[in-house]
Amino acid sequence: MKRITLFAVLACFIYQARAQHLLYVPDTLSGTAFNLTVHRDSVSFFPGTFTQTFGINSHKYLGPTLFLRKGDSVSITVNNQMGDTTSMHWHGLHVAPANDGGPFSMIMDGMSWSPKFIVRNNAATYWYHPHMMMKTAAQAIKGDAGLIIIQDSAEQALMLPRRYGIDDFPVIVQSVELDSLNQFMPRGMVDSIVLVNGTDSPLVNLPAQVVRLRLLNASGERTFNFGFTASKSFKVIGNDGGLLPAPVTATRVRLSPGERAEILVDLDGMAGQTIHLMSYASELPMGVQGGPTMPMPPGSPLMNSPLNGINFNILQINIGAQTAAPITTIPATLVPDTPYTESMANTTRTIHMTADSMMVMDGPFYFNHNLYDANRIDYHIPLNNIEIWTLMDSTMVAHPFHIHDVHFYILDRNGNPPDAVERGRKDVLLIQPNETVRFIAKFDDFADTTLPYMYHCHILMHEDDGMMGQFVVGGERASVNNINSTEKGMMVFPNPASESITISIEGAASSGVSGIAVYDVMGRKVYAGTLENTITINTAQWVKGLYFVTAISSGHSIRKTFMVR
Ligand code: C2O
Ligand code: CU
Ligand code: CU
Repeated sequence: MKRITLFAVLACFIYQARAQHLLYVPDTLSGTAFNLTVHRDSVSFFPGTFTQTFGINSHKYLGPTLFLRKGDSVSITVNNQMGDTTSMHWHGLHVAPANDGGPFSMIMDGMSWSPKFIVRNNAATYWYHPHMMMKTAAQAIKGDAGLIIIQDSAEQALMLPRRYGIDDFPVIVQSVELDSLNQFMPRGMVDSIVLVNGTDSPLVNLPAQVVRLRLLNASGERTFNFGFTASKSFKVIGNDGGLLPAPVTATRVRLSPGERAEILVDLDGMAGQTIHLMSYASELPMGVQGGPTMPMPPGSPLMNSPLNGINFNILQINIGAQTAAPITTIPATLVPDTPYTESMANTTRTIHMTADSMMVMDGPFYFNHNLYDANRIDYHIPLNNIEIWTLMDSTMVAHPFHIHDVHFYILDRNGNPPDAVERGRKDVLLIQPNETVRFIAKFDDFADTTLPYMYHCHILMHEDDGMMGQFVVGGERASVNNINSTEKGMMVFPNPASESITISIEGAASSGVSGIAVYDVMGRKVYAGTLENTITINTAQWVKGLYFVTAISSGHSIRKTFMVR
């Protein structure tokens, strides 16, 4: 304990000695056609040294904020210039599995991927990050991530601050660990540096009026217990999947990795003052990463960050003059939303989180005693099913549970209704040791019997270590060969295959298709060849499971998924 205390004192000293930087506000992209290029870059967080990063478009770290409008049909092209295989997931977006950017939507180095979908989500704050098997932490923590803001008419009708970078700010919070050469340690648990929008020791000038902050915890493992200096109160207006029915007055909002909250803070009459956005981590329960240090047996490796269990500053806020046409009042009601009720559910499932022993702190952790298996579908869910999932945590640490495709409503935690801020549409929930949490969700709109959606722990190293499962929705075979419009020209049959698979591409020769490749779920190339119009590959000896066929034409790829069984 002594060593940890000394370390904490030292770290605070270093923390304060670092120069402050004006909060970086990522630029924005809007419209219906988006282009993201992920590339290698570097940032000088500390004078004289460069930290290797991933940046998107003109950014050296993180990417632009995407503004999407509900109802729009959008296309997003992701160009991979990372020097490694990747994928890009739209966290919280309700899209078909082929557009979701999960681990099966691999983008090879030098290639691009162009999902097209209709924006169906409500106005709220979402985000994007890669989702490659065993590489999510390494890629996301180095900066391959960004914010998505969805707008809709219900939100637009309210008198809310929405001038980006003026009275409406992204606040992407990441705690990171750098090694002695100032390089990211994606699995580091001694994370002592807190970046906001990629800014180290940030300060922001805000006007003396009602300001909206879009908080995202994009950290690998740390939970933040957000609040302001002197416990100044604020209003929570939205969480993961939309605005709440009414603002909720709060002095804290706890966000685990992956979770978002939109808050309004009233700075009217405070011009000239300085306050801080903080994490009141001393109030977190033991077992929640970032909370008080667990007693460690003597001689064990230092796994605890100096930030654990202490209250620390995240963002300095200098309050200046009001802008023109300031928002100075907060609406009493927001957007009505009716949760599903228990009587509507027709299926229940139980997920038990376990480890090899009760003492395991760093994994591996399991769902129902299983590690992720890309070739195992954990649940087959009928389209339009309304389901209750019961989660139980029998490990000694808390886990932020995340599910793709749907938003859910928390029914209860240990039998008690959730706090008001957790009553809206969620896609991540933090479950604590010995807790039982139930949620209800409807699996509507998208069916695909081959390509699964993921559910996983959003502690990225737990996810990478296999704390993940997958489900398919729907029972109609028809959807298999019609995954997404960019792939319409390619037919792959029969699917599932056993003896052989036939691939045919309309007008392959004339459209400049230079070759085809087939990859297994680990991204290993199992077949490469040139394509005329039709090719048949013998699959009799192939390992059962999912495969991806990619046809390459002038640097762009079209792809399909098929199964061998
Ligand atoms: Cu934000 Cu499957 O992840
Ligand atoms: Cu997600
Ligand atoms: Cu976990």
